[in-house]
Amino acid sequence: MRIVLVGPPGAGKGTQAAYLAKNLSIPHISTGDLFRANISQGTQLGQKAQEYMRAGQLVPDEITIGMAKDRMAQPDAEAGFLLDGFPRNLGQAEALDGILRETGTKLDAVLDLEVPEDEVVRRIAGRRMCRKDSSHIFHVEYTPPKIEGVCDICGGELYQREDDKEETVRKRLEVYHTETEPIIDYYKAQGLVVTISALGKVPEVTKRAMEALGRVA
Ligand code: AP5
Ligand code: MG
Repeated sequence: MRIVLVGPPGAGKGTQAAYLAKNLSIPHISTGDLFRANISQGTQLGQKAQEYMRAGQLVPDEITIGMAKDRMAQPDAEAGFLLDGFPRNLGQAEALDGILRETGTKLDAVLDLEVPEDEVVRRIAGRRMCRKDSSHIFHVEYTPPKIEGVCDICGGELYQREDDKEETVRKRLEVYHTETEPIIDYYKAQGLVVTISALGKVPEVTKRAMEALGRVA
């Protein structure tokens, strides 16, 4: 399956993607995670991306699209993928259509995670991410690790993301409304959108997502 996951910052895209990718046996491709990996490795791409991420703005398309295309061209993504955080504006959505056309493939669904704004703010404020594996995501209140600051799964150090500061979160939400939400209508016109509520416990949301994807697959 080829799926795009869409939803505001803090909706639970990364959290759900870890389970959905496993259940569906497809790789989870997160452009945010790819940028963060480049930043921690000190690559040129990471250096360019960092200033935009710090400001809560989108990294320019000329950097993002090439990076996403390269990742999608890797062998593990041949039979499908779960895109998280890409596309994030209309230009990227059109570029993705072009990439899919080139490979003679198409999307199966765009899964839209709906969460009220006050809840995403709470989710982001308490988020802790694992430095060793970005799919290991915790929340100090909702899904706390057994030992504070330590990943339950791999023992990695848990940290708070640099762009999770209040003023940056406000900017990210604004960018989501102005630049990313329009892609939902773009995909609705193609009949691809399935919207689910991402409220409730993590496994409940996964179940809802799998059922919704089962209806379109
Ligand atoms: P990115 O990393 O994609 O961030 P985002 O879209 O802002 O989304 P988040 O990762 O913050 O939230 P999430 O939905 O994954 O939530 P999570 O599962 O962690 O992008 C970061 C930046 O990179 C962008 O601002 C931009 O600068 C750049 N970028 C990335 N892609 C780009 C692109 N295509 N083009 C241009 N620039 C790009 O969950 C959040 C918290 O909630 C966690 O603590 C989790 O434990 C908790 N939680 C999850 N589910 C539940 C639940 N059901 N109940 C209770 N708590 C829950
Ligand atoms: Mg994420």
